[in-house]
Amino acid sequence: MRLLSSRRRHPATRALFLALALSLMGVLYATVAPTAPSSAEGPSSTQIEEGQALYRTGCASCHGLNAEGTSQGPTLIGVGAGSVDFQMGTGRMPAAAPHAQIPAKPKVYSDDEIAAIAAYIGSLDLGIAIPDIGQYSMEKPARGQFPAGHDGDVAYETALDEYYRVVAIGGELFRTNCSACHNYQGTGGALPGGKHAPSLEGVEGRYILEAMRIGPQQMPVFSADVISDEEAAAMITYLEELHGQRNNGGLGLGGFGPVGEGLWAWLIGIGGLICFAIWITRKGVRAK
Ligand code: HEC
Ligand code: HEC
Repeated sequence: MRLLSSRRRHPATRALFLALALSLMGVLYATVAPTAPSSAEGPSSTQIEEGQALYRTGCASCHGLNAEGTSQGPTLIGVGAGSVDFQMGTGRMPAAAPHAQIPAKPKVYSDDEIAAIAAYIGSLDLGIAIPDIGQYSMEKPARGQFPAGHDGDVAYETALDEYYRVVAIGGELFRTNCSACHNYQGTGGALPGGKHAPSLEGVEGRYILEAMRIGPQQMPVFSADVISDEEAAAMITYLEELHGQRNNGGLGLGGFGPVGEGLWAWLIGIGGLICFAIWITRKGVRAK
């Protein structure tokens, strides 16, 4: 009995009690707690049916009755909901007619209809999913989120510095991976074979992330192994900051940086020197 007296309890009994109590609570919780709905709220079967009906009237003529593909369009089995969201959200689909590069245009279907068709195609096979907003957006610190006064000012400035540091990394990633085709300012550019990389100005963040994961037409696929979601969010925020920038007038010169200015310095500076040289030799000849 002495062994169990409150002062001389075996050190293991405490741990044993704790483990027992915890497992008891676990059992209690499991029986009492309502069965939680699965966190990833999947599409409902009615939405999929609705999508299938819309698909059959608007898309099947080119992509086949069961998305198996025809001579007019590729199979959509395995492309995923994200691919449908991208193609329809940017207005590329439904295509009006065969074309070497089907152009983006204002979207034809409503957001609900696009979601339904995306759910239907996504239900056929996995593929690229529609990303969540957290995957492609970064929150810009606002002064109101911090307490008033000096400490709040300092905290706000620090958060803002950090935000712009990440945005700058996004800019670097954009210039390394995308500017070859989309230009330094994301305003687009020509590609061989009469094709083009479109301007990214005003393109919604989720379509930018989807395009990276899909790699439409000549665009390479940038998988999450190459550019993580966080890096993609930094790039997208960089583009938003860049395109939201106030234009203070003057010629943009394609945002090429000092290259554009250098060209003009060359033309005017060197041109002026040549004119001067010609003028001076003429004078020299006359003086003889
Ligand atoms: C006039 C024919 C035509 C119609 C109608 C059409 N498509 Fe397409 N679709 C195409 C062609 C051609 C391509 C290949 C485009 C390319 O190479 O970029 C394509 C590509 C796609 C892709 C990308 C496939 C991939 O492999 O990445 C998706 C997704 C898609 N279509 C969805 C749809 C949906 C949804 C509809 C109906 C709302 C639709 N399309 C209507 C012809 C069509
Ligand atoms: C080799 C050239 C090339 C590179 C590199 C490239 N893209 Fe593209 N991108 C294209 C082409 C071509 C298209 C048009 C595809 C189409 O018409 O279906 C495109 C389309 C897009 C679109 C769709 C725009 C719209 O109008 O709907 C986005 C967004 C995009 N690219 C983002 C990026 C990002 C971000 C990167 C860098 C990570 C990148 N691209 C790198 C060639 C490229």
